[in-house]
Amino acid sequence: MSSIHLFLNNPISPSSAVLRRSIKLKKCRFPGSTNSGRMVACAMVDVRAPELAAAIGGKVRSEEVVAAEGRVLVGTYARAPVVLSSGRGCKLYDPEGREYLDMTSGIAVNALGHGDPDWVRAVTEQAGVLTHVSNVFYSIPQVELAKRLVACSFADRVFFSNSGTEANEAAIKFARKFQRFSHPDAKQPPTEFISFTNCFHGRTMGALALTSKEHYRTPFEPVMPGVTFLEYGNSQSAVELIRSGKIAAVFVEPIQGEGGIYSATKEFLQALRSACDDTGSLLVFDEVQCGLGRTGCLWAHESYGVFPDIMTLAKPLAGGLPIGAVLVTERVAAAINYGDHGSTFAGGPLVCSAAIAVLDKISNPGFLASVSKKGLYFKEILVQKLGGNSHVREVRGMGLIIGVELDVSASPLVDACRNSGLLILTAGKGNVVRLVPPLIVSEQELDHAANIILECLPVLDESNTN
Ligand SMILES: Cc1ncc(COP(=O)(O)O)c(C=O)c1O
Repeated sequence: MSSIHLFLNNPISPSSAVLRRSIKLKKCRFPGSTNSGRMVACAMVDVRAPELAAAIGGKVRSEEVVAAEGRVLVGTYARAPVVLSSGRGCKLYDPEGREYLDMTSGIAVNALGHGDPDWVRAVTEQAGVLTHVSNVFYSIPQVELAKRLVACSFADRVFFSNSGTEANEAAIKFARKFQRFSHPDAKQPPTEFISFTNCFHGRTMGALALTSKEHYRTPFEPVMPGVTFLEYGNSQSAVELIRSGKIAAVFVEPIQGEGGIYSATKEFLQALRSACDDTGSLLVFDEVQCGLGRTGCLWAHESYGVFPDIMTLAKPLAGGLPIGAVLVTERVAAAINYGDHGSTFAGGPLVCSAAIAVLDKISNPGFLASVSKKGLYFKEILVQKLGGNSHVREVRGMGLIIGVELDVSASPLVDACRNSGLLILTAGKGNVVRLVPPLIVSEQELDHAANIILECLPVLDESNTN
């Protein structure tokens, strides 16, 4: 009999035996194996480990979670050293009860804040009725949500995905298919794409190929070929390339989030629109971060008066549940056939019910007006309070997507704010503070956030002299 080695002795904290699991061993053969000497150990691990039970009961300690994360998760995230275990409105709490004011919204996701009662009702009611059926069948919340999205946008039809990157993957495929459909006799229909400096479109191979930051792409090359990056805002170079006739679609964020909160100009978007109209290239607006009320308009492009052929959405749509959506005109949809694209999970009853609750609230004109008002107020007090500091270069943005550009790295400021109970993000090359609070934030909370940032600003001098 072969000996069996088990490698399960990874306690969460070396001092406690919290991960001592109940292990039952079985010896089994690989199905079909004729090698009588070959044995494997199947460890049946009781996942109801004490630390998990404690987490559910809210009794786990932050340091235990951080230590365990370091061992059991693939190291893709350089996380802030905070464990968040509950939230209400714009406040988040760690297991020790420390309170944080949230100016991150889970990266522009929790538009209604944490625990919005209407959202909770929609999710719990739907969870008790039907959660998932796949797209083999029709489901009522999916069709209802699509009807609402069509009614309040330029679009005629919707495709659902599970995330922003997947929405952009679908848009890439739709653009290629549209061009093939529109050029039935061409040996080589337009297949290439344009995207812009400082853009971010996602992490999967197509969306990654469209994303400008080189260090996101290079470790994974070759990514999808045929993408040209042009300067964001430079209409002339974009128009020239669109006129080459090789471009299937132009991907652009009306307001760049990840890239540093840069807003397009009206002239730039208009130039893209008219060059696309002239040549048949598609104009894709990625509103994954800036859409759905964040700018004070339901769609960021509304304030430009320029409309796309395709728009991708995700982050806030289901108020924290994973969803993405691709909104298209009838002309684009006509090129797409059964089987051209799909997803097992996408557009399920649970996420769509959540999204209906979110969209109903956000699309209310009174709600959008309040976002505009609070956005103007926040920018004003940020300029007033921070503008005199020598490290602050610019306060920019629209509605409640605001960037404070510094002449140094924003990391020490982000850390100091966190230690003072305020959660903020960085953007751009790390020198921009990104403020994307829940859209339900109050002026009092915005005051509080601006005051904490002001109090923490001196840390930038300290970290620069060290
Ligand atoms: C503009 C934009 N597009 C796409 C994405 C990718 O979305 P996801 O992280 O849901 O895949 C993001 C994410 O930050 C984004 O900001």
